Amino acid sequence: MKTIGVLTSGGDAPGMNAAIRAVVRTAIYNDMKVIGVRRGYNGLINGDLREMNIASVGDIVHRGGTVLHTDRSDEFKTTEGQNKARNIVEIFGIEGMVVIGGDGSLRGAKDLCHLGVPTIGIPGTIDNDISCTDYTIGFDTATNTVVDAINKIRDTVTSHQRANVIEVMGRGRGDIALYTGVAGGAEHIIIPEIPFELNDLCKRLIQGRDRGKRSHIIVLAESMFNVNDLCEEIEEKTGIETRATVLGHIQRGGNPTVADRVLASRMGYHAVNLLKEGIGNRVICIRDNKIMDCDLEEGLAMKKEFDKEMYKMSKVLSI
Ligand code: ADP
Ligand code: F6P
Repeated sequence: MKTIGVLTSGGDAPGMNAAIRAVVRTAIYNDMKVIGVRRGYNGLINGDLREMNIASVGDIVHRGGTVLHTDRSDEFKTTEGQNKARNIVEIFGIEGMVVIGGDGSLRGAKDLCHLGVPTIGIPGTIDNDISCTDYTIGFDTATNTVVDAINKIRDTVTSHQRANVIEVMGRGRGDIALYTGVAGGAEHIIIPEIPFELNDLCKRLIQGRDRGKRSHIIVLAESMFNVNDLCEEIEEKTGIETRATVLGHIQRGGNPTVADRVLASRMGYHAVNLLKEGIGNRVICIRDNKIMDCDLEEGLAMKKEFDKEMYKMSKVLSI
């Protein structure tokens, strides 16, 4: 392959820039031309492209967001949109693509392969919800951001002897809540994978208060309950003043951690090495700290095992 394209799609994730840099630099090192596609699949449909050089990815390894910008494209889900994208690929002589994004974006990558464009997917999302990989780019940074917030919230919660329900992102997946709940010493973690029992939560809060505990942190994965209603119910049942914090998009920003920069660099490097060999239709994964790749379709069809043992541990450690 002499010319490849790279795009970022879906929700941005810290570390995407480090992945773009790795793709561009590895390609140039191997005498390949790299076309940066702006605004995800919308950019591919509309020909929003620019050639990348060594300097165009300078000074970005440490930056959050994505210099290629990102978007969600309903048009790309249609046959017409996909044909438009295919045309642009042909016109600009793009022989292979790297798509950096979450589950939806990688499904788009699979479609690109079906259109005859060898494509490699790189899992970039804070949600850590891609089944074939232990970790996705952005998860480590997002969870560190959440834990930093929990530490600050705990200061005020302790001062007032209150409870605080902290809603975190995750898009139907409890990894962000589980990891940050454990790392932040939460008294309770509410995630979609485990049925929620309000009485169990209230009992634990009351027992804690009666033992003299001054802070009660509850981490809640988004889209499960209305956080304000939940706070009211807790307050009514326990008598403990309860506030809500919705962390929102702060979780998506900020400088990527070392772990995310290294993961992104390794994945980007591996992706281009596959394209160089003419290999497409793969998704890059990390398993047991080894970078590998698997078939896109198979990787996306896998079911991610929920770490029940970690949840069990969180209950033990928060007694
Ligand atoms: P993420 O990649 O973060 O999971 P989305 O689910 O919003 O984010 O997907 C990002 C984009 O990927 C969508 O706007 C769409 O353009 C494309 N996409 C999502 N699902 C599919 C699909 N099943 N087939 C083709 N393209 C898809
Ligand atoms: O997929 C990443 C994510 O941040 C999810 O955790 C969240 O549900 C969603 O994107 C939010 O999307 P938007 O940026 O469109 O509000």
